[in-house]
Amino acid sequence: MHAATPPPADLADVIGPIERAVVADRVTGLARVLAQLEAAGAFAADLFPAASADHYQRRLIHRDPHDRFVVVGMTWEPGQASALHDHAGLWGAEIVVRGTMEETAFRLLDRDVEGRYKFRCQGEHLAPPSCVGILIPPLEYHSFRNVGTKTAHTVHVYGGAFEFCRAFSVDDAGWWRAARVDLSYDA
Ligand SMILES: [Fe+2]
Repeated sequence: MHAATPPPADLADVIGPIERAVVADRVTGLARVLAQLEAAGAFAADLFPAASADHYQRRLIHRDPHDRFVVVGMTWEPGQASALHDHAGLWGAEIVVRGTMEETAFRLLDRDVEGRYKFRCQGEHLAPPSCVGILIPPLEYHSFRNVGTKTAHTVHVYGGAFEFCRAFSVDDAGWWRAARVDLSYDA
């Protein structure tokens, strides 16, 4: 993990409303709060890490001192994508700030004795700026991709420290295998 870039002076204006929403009712009010912040231009470009040709970039914008939530900014070059992953049982709220993303949602159907998983794709949806998504376990499986022609910025709020997740890869027969991913920040 690298040292974080110093936060902007008005970061409290971003974190305050998010914290109040989480304290009031965890994820329920977050969609509205994130949309209001985005509409007000609160998610300035300097909140986000620089783009990289290697993979999408993650920056820790804020970690709640009581580990009730974290706020993460992500930067995606065109075509960059996450694997199908879970959220380690945490709720999540995500908003697209710049660019055009596509989210693919999956429903977990089965797990066999060998530890393989069966998912059903629930379909893709286009996520332009201001589009908010909420994931509440057990509906916590999805993937994200920048399908636009420009660099994309997204903000993610998770209901805990979110230090690891599971990423899934699929075989020719349609079974998925999980691998633990220890989550770190790029910048
Ligand atoms: Fe996710």
